[in-house]
Amino acid sequence: MSTSTGLIDRWGRRHTELRISVTDRCNLRCTYCMRALPVKFLPHSELLTFEEILRFVKVAVQLGVSHVRLTGGEPLVRRGIVDLVAMLAQVRGLDDLAMTTNGTLLAPVAGRLKAAGLHRLNISLDTLEPQKYCSLSRRDLLAQVIAGIRAAQEAGFEKIKLNALAIRGQTEPDIIPLTEFAREAGLELRFIEYMPLVDLPSEEALQPLPAAEILRILESHFGELEPEAPGHDQEHAPARVFRFRNGPGQIGIIPPMSDPFCDRCNRLRLTADGALRNCLFSNVSWDIKKLLRSEGPDERIAEEIRQAVLAKSWARGGETEKLPILPAPMHKVGG
Ligand code: 5AD
Ligand code: SF4
Repeated sequence: MSTSTGLIDRWGRRHTELRISVTDRCNLRCTYCMRALPVKFLPHSELLTFEEILRFVKVAVQLGVSHVRLTGGEPLVRRGIVDLVAMLAQVRGLDDLAMTTNGTLLAPVAGRLKAAGLHRLNISLDTLEPQKYCSLSRRDLLAQVIAGIRAAQEAGFEKIKLNALAIRGQTEPDIIPLTEFAREAGLELRFIEYMPLVDLPSEEALQPLPAAEILRILESHFGELEPEAPGHDQEHAPARVFRFRNGPGQIGIIPPMSDPFCDRCNRLRLTADGALRNCLFSNVSWDIKKLLRSEGPDERIAEEIRQAVLAKSWARGGETEKLPILPAPMHKVGG
């Protein structure tokens, strides 16, 4: 296999980042992600084993992937997740190993994740109001998230990011308190415009709070924000980052709806049951599990990855609607 060419699609985008959902299960039931019970989850036998994930990652790294992010569902509900981190941390050529978590189960394992070789953590936190947290996530676990954030800092994780979903009519009152909390704690907060889902019943339909409005609310409180030029390591990062003029700290806004960043997309996604996807907005996938469970050589898997990259549409999975809809919720595809 050649390392020199990289996973370049028909528009010249080089794919260096792989997001792996290690489970579709979650201990929360965020209203913007899942219906209330019952949610149908994959049987354990359908999930890729750690050995299968490791094999896939090694092939992907040979082809040019250098960043892996573990997601879910909630990655920390997968039994033995620290062992998977330790296995992946050994892969030569993998420069960055990160995890996106809801933080509720983080406190007891933060130290072990760091010791196993995890580099970075993104923690989801939409509000600091316990009751609102409970109504958004349908679970009363805000205190555990805060404890998880503190434990991650104590474990020595640097550049921890907080992700807050931006939903019209819900997020507005949380913008300032979350920002103050993040600044005091030395964390980078990013607001993510909500992406509408096909799965939710229409009476639960939600609208994104656009980046421009988030910015307006922030500036009305903190004064003018200064846009930060993307750093070398952030050339693919979807966040627009701003500095405060009146003190330390920065804040990010991720605008998939109002200002899509498809032009610099470098991501592939592997679902918990081993389907490779080239775009969040596309319903097409490549069956990696079948290959992993057949006797085929690594080259067959490499070919499948190249095919997925070559089939990638220029934007939003080929959707031409002005406001596209996610074909599957984040807990199935991996956030
Ligand atoms: N749109 C945008 N972000 C979402 N997330 C979950 N569902 C959506 C959605 N529909 C986010 C979560 C978490 C990350 C894994 O994905 O808030 O931060
Ligand atoms: Fe769980 Fe994340 Fe979905 Fe919330 S958004 S239910 S934390 S997978």
